[in-house]
Amino acid sequence: MTKISPKIALHDKVFEVYLEESQIEKRIADMADQISKDYEGKRPLFLSILNGSFMFAASLLKKLQIDSEISFVKVASYQGTETTGDHTELIGLNEDISNRHILILEDIVDTGLTIQSLKRMLTDQNPASLEVTTLFSKPEALQVDLMLKYVGFEIPKYFVVGFGMDYNGLGRNLSSVYKISD
Ligand code: IMP
Ligand code: MG
Repeated sequence: MTKISPKIALHDKVFEVYLEESQIEKRIADMADQISKDYEGKRPLFLSILNGSFMFAASLLKKLQIDSEISFVKVASYQGTETTGDHTELIGLNEDISNRHILILEDIVDTGLTIQSLKRMLTDQNPASLEVTTLFSKPEALQVDLMLKYVGFEIPKYFVVGFGMDYNGLGRNLSSVYKISD
């Protein structure tokens, strides 16, 4: 296991350890057990949202005990100029998801707007089921009514990095999760 520095600097900010790799891996193992039970015989298709969820996806899939598939997609958002709000586009989905059991894999749900628009786009393609698996969620930041089926850790409104998550491009490679120091 990599040695953990208690504090690190990324760009202009200092971060401190929030969750160690072993705690994160243990929680992901529990999530994998639960998903393996719930999706036995259903051959789920995981849609891993890039970039942030790559490390969570790798860890979770190694721990699953059932047949499954994975595809990596990107959600691009454009700031809307009209009052109708933001526009979101889904990039990289080549699979036919109709009648498939779909599990979205996300690193962290903040306002929930990304997942909400993604769910709308995917629902249009008639999956057999559509659920969300996220490593982190910030319930206090949630702005929409969203059902998250599998949540690794519910956290306060901290800005966090590591285990796939970044601060302006840095920090994704960290194997522990760090929160901003104040
Ligand atoms: P939402 O649409 O507000 O839920 O934003 C979700 C996306 O914002 C996540 O997929 C992350 O890419 C990013 N994000 C939200 N909170 C954090 C954080 O604390 N650290 C790093 N990225 C974050
Ligand atoms: Mg993300």
